[in-house]
Amino acid sequence: MGDSAISVSGVSKNFRIFSEQNRSLKGAILRGNRTRYEEFWALRDIDLEIPQGKTFGLLGNNGSGKSTLLKCMARILKPNKGEIHHRGRMAAMLEVGSGFHPELTGRENVFLNSAILGMTRAEIERKFDSIVDFAGEAVARSIDQPVKNYSSGMYVRLGFSVSIHVEPDILLVDEVLAVGDMEFQEQCMEKFADLKRDGRTVVVVSHALDQMRTFCDYAAWLDNGQIARLGVANDVISSYIEDEHGARSAAGAGVRFGTGEVVIDRFEVITDRGVNPAQVHSYEPVHIRMHYTAKERIPDPSFIVSIDHVDGQSMWSNHTKDADYLPADVRPGPGSLDVVIPALNFRPGTFYINGSVHSSDGGVLDCLNRSLKMTVIAGDPKESGGLVALGSHFDEMTPERPMKKAKAPGQGPVDLETYVSPHKRGEDRRQRS
Ligand SMILES: Nc1ncnc2c1ncn2[C@@H]1O[C@H](COP(=O)(O)OP(=O)(O)OP(=O)(O)O)[C@@H](O)[C@H]1O
Ligand SMILES: [Mg+2]
Repeated sequence: MGDSAISVSGVSKNFRIFSEQNRSLKGAILRGNRTRYEEFWALRDIDLEIPQGKTFGLLGNNGSGKSTLLKCMARILKPNKGEIHHRGRMAAMLEVGSGFHPELTGRENVFLNSAILGMTRAEIERKFDSIVDFAGEAVARSIDQPVKNYSSGMYVRLGFSVSIHVEPDILLVDEVLAVGDMEFQEQCMEKFADLKRDGRTVVVVSHALDQMRTFCDYAAWLDNGQIARLGVANDVISSYIEDEHGARSAAGAGVRFGTGEVVIDRFEVITDRGVNPAQVHSYEPVHIRMHYTAKERIPDPSFIVSIDHVDGQSMWSNHTKDADYLPADVRPGPGSLDVVIPALNFRPGTFYINGSVHSSDGGVLDCLNRSLKMTVIAGDPKESGGLVALGSHFDEMTPERPMKKAKAPGQGPVDLETYVSPHKRGEDRRQRS
């Protein structure tokens, strides 16, 4: 298995789904001894090598087989075909509360669980305080209560704390972390980083794609029990998201909700090059125009416009209230509102425009998300990575060459009539030199 911490080869797993009729005695007698069931393949021909010391993510839609694969790795399920090998001590955090005995206290469960995971009594006693400490105050307070009285977050905190104190070479973690609060999730992220620094391997299943992107080195996307894509986490996550958005936007134009007194008809991205240009350049001034139709008069309305990265990351939003802008009352019939963005300081990428209209008490009259895509390409000056375009340049400061002021692209008020795109400015400069 080379340098792999876990090696999965040709693994298939099926479940037998028994049909309803089999539940009755009469049905069983009528059919004789034959039981009727359908075979359902939850995993088909999975090949994976998870490198030692790396963090590996499993992602995919509900029911795609992620938990099943993790359980096979943890040897809780036995594959029907194929083999899984691993190297080193393994600990798994699967379903909430798995491995805990509900009638026993937190303290008793820590001892039981740690022993099952291979810790000696002396080792557990030495680490007990640290285990409870990591699990947090609420757990510490209830450590002598039966865990059946714990909240699901408390369960997960204690379970996770035990798993990491076992100091496993390989840690398997299913979605459960999502149950924890923000503080705990941050604690877990730090712990994953520690584990990685120590050369340990972590396999996580998650729907929190932003988090996955930051801490996973590699990932596999499972689709209907098969690997749709495998490789560097960033790439796998991006193609999963693109695919999901593609499927969703093909099904309908955007995601909409609200009471409907006002309906947002569409958004437009307007630059000096026209309405909804194929691409917008970084630093380019843009107007985002929301077109709506009102069924009735709406006094004292407010509007929100926002932009999300195609990955789901919120890039920016503005609420007329926060901007201290008082829109006129909405009158029955069509209307529109512009947000003026002096310079679109986004790095190249794909983005969605979203917006909503609210009544005076804040109720959502209409909210339309993901109906318009905007593609941003590099502007001038060019920069390498990240989400924001800062318009930076390099310089070497020496006593002979005092610091030059950074030229600020897109600074000051912009008049769309006279605006020259940075792209064109770049051409001008090249011609001059
Ligand atoms: N014990 C079981 N008996 C029958 N079917 C099962 C069993 N366990 C899982 N399945 C089925 O296998 C498929 C994969 O389930 P799995 O729990 O692995 O999905 P998942 O990717 O973890 O989904 P989620 O994102 O919802 O957690 C599902 O269709 C599920 O119904
Ligand atoms: Mg699951």
